[in-house]
Amino acid sequence: DEEKKHHWFVGSIDQGTTSSRFLIFNGEGDPVASHQIEFENLYPKSGWHEHDPLELLNSVEQCIEEAVRKFVELGFSKSDIRSIGITNQRETTVVWDSTTGEPLCNAVVWPDTRTKTLVRELKTRENADALMDLCGLPLSTYPSSVKLLWLIQNDDAVKRAYEEGRLAFGTVDSWLIYKLNGGAKAEKPIHVTDSTNASRTMFMNLRTLQYDDKLLGFFGIDKTKVQLPKIVPSSDAECFGKVASGPLVNVPIAGCLGDQSSALVGQCGFNPGQAKNTYGTGCFLLYNVGTEPVISKYGLLATVAYDFGRGRKPVYALEGSIAVAGSGVKFLMNNLGFVNQSSEITSLAESVPDNGGVVFVTAFSGLFAPYWIDDAKGTLFGITQHTTKAHIARATLEATCYQTRAILEAMEKDSGHKLESLAVDGGVSNSDLCMQTQADVSGIRVDRPRMRETTALGAAIAAGLATGVWKELEDLREVNRNGRKVFTPQMERSQADRLFKKWEQAVEMSRGWVN
Ligand code: G3P
Repeated sequence: DEEKKHHWFVGSIDQGTTSSRFLIFNGEGDPVASHQIEFENLYPKSGWHEHDPLELLNSVEQCIEEAVRKFVELGFSKSDIRSIGITNQRETTVVWDSTTGEPLCNAVVWPDTRTKTLVRELKTRENADALMDLCGLPLSTYPSSVKLLWLIQNDDAVKRAYEEGRLAFGTVDSWLIYKLNGGAKAEKPIHVTDSTNASRTMFMNLRTLQYDDKLLGFFGIDKTKVQLPKIVPSSDAECFGKVASGPLVNVPIAGCLGDQSSALVGQCGFNPGQAKNTYGTGCFLLYNVGTEPVISKYGLLATVAYDFGRGRKPVYALEGSIAVAGSGVKFLMNNLGFVNQSSEITSLAESVPDNGGVVFVTAFSGLFAPYWIDDAKGTLFGITQHTTKAHIARATLEATCYQTRAILEAMEKDSGHKLESLAVDGGVSNSDLCMQTQADVSGIRVDRPRMRETTALGAAIAAGLATGVWKELEDLREVNRNGRKVFTPQMERSQADRLFKKWEQAVEMSRGWVN
C-alpha cells in the first residue's frame, strides 16, 4: 500500500445549486478527469425555489459514471480511486420517507423565502434572542430549521409522515450519502451528516457539535417523530459507508463538507486569519477564526469550518453569506436575455467604462449578510436614457463586490483584525473585471488560484486524509500553490468610499417591498 500511495486518486462529488459534478484528483491535488451536469431549478411561485431530490441523485450518479469513463480512457485504473468525498449546497432541505427511502416532496433550496411569515412569527417567540449564541446563526429564511418546520406545518405528506414517525430529514449531503449507500434497501441504512453541514441547520450546538434540545424545542421539533441525521466529523473512513452500486461500487465515502467549508479547505486556509470568498450561485466569505467559535455582533454567521476528527479540534469560521452572485448573471441571461452564455457578461460589462450611475441591489431573496433584510427586493437605481444593458451587467457584478466589502468591514469589527488579502474562487471569479472591481472597492489584494475547483478539492482532501492519501495537513503544502494571479487595488480610496456610500443608500431604499 505504501508504494502504491503515490498513484492514489480521490473522487469528489460537488453537488451545487445549479449543477452537479464529479472530479477525480491525483495526490498533487490536480483534477485529472471530471464531468458536470446542470439540472433544473424550479421556481413554482414567487419566492419559492425547489430541486427534485431524485434529479439531484441521478445527476450525481451520471457524473460519476462519465468521469470514471474518462478516467479509464486516460489509461488510469479505477481501483486506484482510494475514496470519495462529498461537498454540497448547504441549507437546502430534503425530506424522505424512512420506510420507502423516497422523497416526500421537492427539496426546499437555500435562497427560498416562503418561510418569511413563519420567520417573523418565530422572532417574537420567547428565547429567540438566545439562539444565535447556541448555534451561531440569526433567525432568517436561510437555515434548514425554518424550511423543515414550514414543510411539517404546510405539506400534507410531510405532516403525515411526521405524525406517523417515518419522516427523515437531511441536507443534500445526508440525502446523497443515504442513497449512495443503497437507501432503505441497504442492510444498515446510513443517515448521517457532518458537523459543517449540521452547523447550517440551527439544530446543532456549535460547541458540543451535537443536537441541542433547546434549539429543537424552540422550533417545536419532536425528535421522536423525525429522524435527524447523526452528526459525525468531516473526515472519516467508516461512518459515511460505501458506494453500493455503479462504477465505484465498494469505494468508501470518507469525506463530507458543506461547499463553503470545502472551498476554504481546498484553498488550504488552515490558519486563523486566512479567508476565502467563493463566487458561485451565491457568494460566501469564510474567515478562519481557529478552534473557538466567534459569535458575530455585526451580522455575520458563526459556522464550523471543518472538523477532521481523529482527536483534532474542530475549526470555526466567521461567515458572510451573499445570496446572489452567479444567479444574478443567470438572471440577466435567462430572464432578461442579455447574453447567451454566462461568460459573455464580462465582455458586455467591459464595453462601458463604468456603471453610468446604475446601482443594482440584487436582493432576489431579501438581503443576507451583513444586512439581513428579509423584505428587500431586487431594485435598480440610477436609470437614465443613457443606461444600456452593459451598465446593468456591470452593476450586477458590482453588487457582489459591494456586499463583500460590507462583510469585510463587519469581519474587521468582529475579529479586530484587518484582512490584507482575500483568496477567491468559484465561477464568477473567472471574471478579471469582477475581481479587479473587488480589489478596488474593498482596498485589499484579491488572490486567485490557477486551479479553481477548490470546492471539490476540499472534499477530496477530507476523504484523502481519512484514507491515507495524505497523512497530515503538512502534506498539502504544495497543493494549489502555482500560477496564482493577484489583483491589487487601483482605485483612489476616496472614489471607492463614494461608490460604496451610494450602494449603502440603495440598500436602504430596497427595503419594505411587499408583493
Ligand atoms: O449556503 C448555500 C451555499 O452552500 C450554496 O453554494 O456554490 O451553490 O453558491 P453555491
